[in-house]
Amino acid sequence: EVQPGGEGPEGLGSRSPQAADPRGHQAFVTLTTNDAYAKGALVLGSSLKQHRTTRKLVVLATPQVSDSMRRALETIFDEVIMVDVLDSGDSAHLTLMKRPELGVTLTKLHCWSLTQYSKCVFMDADTLVLTNIDDLFEREELSAAPDPGWPDCFNSGVFVYQPSVETYNQLLRLASEQGSFDGGDQGLLNTFFSSWATTDIRKHLPFIYNLSSTSVYSYLPAFKAFGASAKVVHFLGRVKPWNYTYDAQTKSVKSESHDPTMTHPEFLHLWWDIFTTTVLPLLQQYGLVKDTCSYLHVEHVSGAVSHMSLGESPATPQPFVSSEERKERWEQGQADYLGADSFDNIKRKLDTYLQ
Ligand code: UDP
Ligand code: GLC
Ligand code: MN
Repeated sequence: EVQPGGEGPEGLGSRSPQAADPRGHQAFVTLTTNDAYAKGALVLGSSLKQHRTTRKLVVLATPQVSDSMRRALETIFDEVIMVDVLDSGDSAHLTLMKRPELGVTLTKLHCWSLTQYSKCVFMDADTLVLTNIDDLFEREELSAAPDPGWPDCFNSGVFVYQPSVETYNQLLRLASEQGSFDGGDQGLLNTFFSSWATTDIRKHLPFIYNLSSTSVYSYLPAFKAFGASAKVVHFLGRVKPWNYTYDAQTKSVKSESHDPTMTHPEFLHLWWDIFTTTVLPLLQQYGLVKDTCSYLHVEHVSGAVSHMSLGESPATPQPFVSSEERKERWEQGQADYLGADSFDNIKRKLDTYLQ
């Protein structure tokens, strides 16, 4: 089968409606394995719509995503596709990255099975678009931007690819036979598409298509020179936008939770702006947030950790969560990093055992 955008110029001597107008057969794809990352997916989907993409929006979701959240996703995405979790279980490599939770990112591989689309752009749920990026569909598999931590590898938070059952099966085979050098999808994909670094410069997306918030700090002059043309921001790293406390009145991210290495505040504010204006009303509609008096404490019923305070914030007691419930959330990757499951709390607990 000849794929549009493959051999020859598009539109010339078109053989099928698909070749004449491939847009309906192209999609932006993201992934969420729980309700916390789903908030990121909703913000990403909203930002793509806000910048008037002409392509379809697809989210891969696993059974851990709650029913209400799936319904919320359906209002923004054209397709919510249920997939099984693929987990590397490779704690040794994941520990090297200090990201024990990323074994499940192998679930991303399911994106190659979406053969109803001829070409797709995968985007992590922790990315945000700042402008229309439909021009990415002019690129070929596998196009991606360099990883800021090791630029001879591509970062797998944004990539152009072509769904194919054959590729999907080859990737699964590689995962089971050899594993991934980082325990997640990025290691595996860099092994599979190993010619990316050296073969075809057109497959190197400019960094502005995957600007990681942490790199802004490591090369500030470059950010000053080129940051204004950023097209996609990637909140790469352990702390995600939804882990912060946001004050909607002052439109500021609360300083006590602010991690200076994490992001440029403008991008974080933009994420929260889209979250509060577009996503929050949806979550309220689907019963996914609790409203307490004048203090609006945005918290997932299923336990994610974003908070929003409106106006004066009285010392509202945190909702009681049993240790059994906490354990369950932890196992689903929904650790309360800034609260009950913070490093300090864990250390305190360990100390009581050691004594
Ligand atoms: N992801 C998920 N659940 C998880 C961890 C990751 O759904 O528990 C998905 C999500 O789409 C996320 C992507 O896998 O954006 C990659 O993980 P993450 O963005 O946390 O990795 P980073 O970019 O920080 O290295
Ligand atoms: C990364 C990528 C992310 C990927 C993870 C695990 O840093 O940003 O998309 O899932 O590594 O391989
Ligand atoms: Mn990411």
